[in-house]
Amino acid sequence: MEKFVVEGGARLQGQVRISGAKNASLALMPATLLAPGTYRLTNTPNLRDVRTMAQLLGEMGVDCQLHPDGTCIIDSRTVTSFEAPYEQVKKMRASFYVLGPLLARYGYARVSLPGGCAWGPRPVDLHLKGLEKLGADIRLERGYVVAKASKLRGTHIHLDVPSVGATGNLLMAAVLAEGTTVITNAAVEPEIQSLAEMLVAMGAHIEGIGTPTLRIEGVSELHPADVTTIPDRIEAGTFLVAAAMTRGTVQLVDVDPSLLTAVLAKLEEAGCQLETGTDTITITMEDAPRPTDITTAPYPGFPTDMQAQWTAFMTLAPGTSRITDTIFHDRFKHVPELVRLGADIQVVDNTAIVNGGTPLMGAKVMSTDLRASAALILAALVAENTSEILRIYHIDRGYERIEEKLQALGARIQRVATDEF
Ligand code: UD1
Repeated sequence: MEKFVVEGGARLQGQVRISGAKNASLALMPATLLAPGTYRLTNTPNLRDVRTMAQLLGEMGVDCQLHPDGTCIIDSRTVTSFEAPYEQVKKMRASFYVLGPLLARYGYARVSLPGGCAWGPRPVDLHLKGLEKLGADIRLERGYVVAKASKLRGTHIHLDVPSVGATGNLLMAAVLAEGTTVITNAAVEPEIQSLAEMLVAMGAHIEGIGTPTLRIEGVSELHPADVTTIPDRIEAGTFLVAAAMTRGTVQLVDVDPSLLTAVLAKLEEAGCQLETGTDTITITMEDAPRPTDITTAPYPGFPTDMQAQWTAFMTLAPGTSRITDTIFHDRFKHVPELVRLGADIQVVDNTAIVNGGTPLMGAKVMSTDLRASAALILAALVAENTSEILRIYHIDRGYERIEEKLQALGARIQRVATDEF
């Protein structure tokens, strides 16, 4: 096991490069199941989740080579298995993304049900209902979804909530269905737009990309395409908050400011100075932040994946801030750990009420999930003395070399081997 040892108090200064988006890569990689051939995905982040997806595809016979420069070469010419086993899906829910493309291309898929996650139940009913509407025969057998279809047929699918995963899965199924599929109340997250653009580059016919109504004319066959992964807006947001919390000045490069509108607006409201270029964002923070409420919402709203980091940020704002998560109502596992660092936070229903402005004190804390780990690192960067963060395998799922990037900005953070769990 490994832990982070963080000595608080250093102001972050300098430049940091933002990696490719985890949630884009996790959708682009399984899309290669839709057409046999060789794909070149550039700007792929070298993350544990991406390696898990490569391994899962590998077990199906797809060769994924992730190179140090971020190029991922995928050869999907030989698919020998149509199954995503529980061992992979329990590690990463996004494994469920193989269901749509396998069913569309091969007419059969056996994919483990993901079950709950660290912060509560996360259903997949919308994925399954949508696939059934497309004509699939879906059975649940001993913890697995077994889906069959000799031919999927276009239909109208209205999503009760604009689920990112369901939109991605249904999009990948519909591109090879016979006739027209219309998905209404579709997710408009940039990572879904990227997936749709990749599918178009592969020969799919999709209208309405970036809007809640996607109209897909099925085609009989697709071909491989080369794609560049968009920058990770959540990694970017995390570094912006890190800079603001330490009252530093940091420039993010290889970032897309247009994907961060809600986060940038809230940072300004909290008192940060921001300058954006085409692919850069510079942030400067000189004072304590102002208390700033946020409510998470589907894109382009404030992302739930930035909620934990914002909670850590608001512990520094003298006064009361309210942080409401409307996407995942129970996503507050970071709160008791932030309280161990001295924060005053109460959770009422799906709102964290933060009474900020009292100093944080270094302590030993435990990561419970990916973004909670990020929040703990941020808090440790400003806590007095030394903090230790255990179970950091969560952070490696979604941040590429986070400690090295932070060290380069002047943070005192070390990855240390430990027997503690
Ligand atoms: C994706 C992201 C995750 C992000 C989340 C919300 C990936 C790999 N993960 O997760 O980082 O936090 O979007 O932006 O891209 N829901 C249902 N039924 C379903 C599916 C979802 O009720 O079948 C509900 C969920 O419980 C949740 C909401 O829809 O309340 C949004 O979830 P969804 O957008 O599906 O999240 P994921 O795709 O799992």
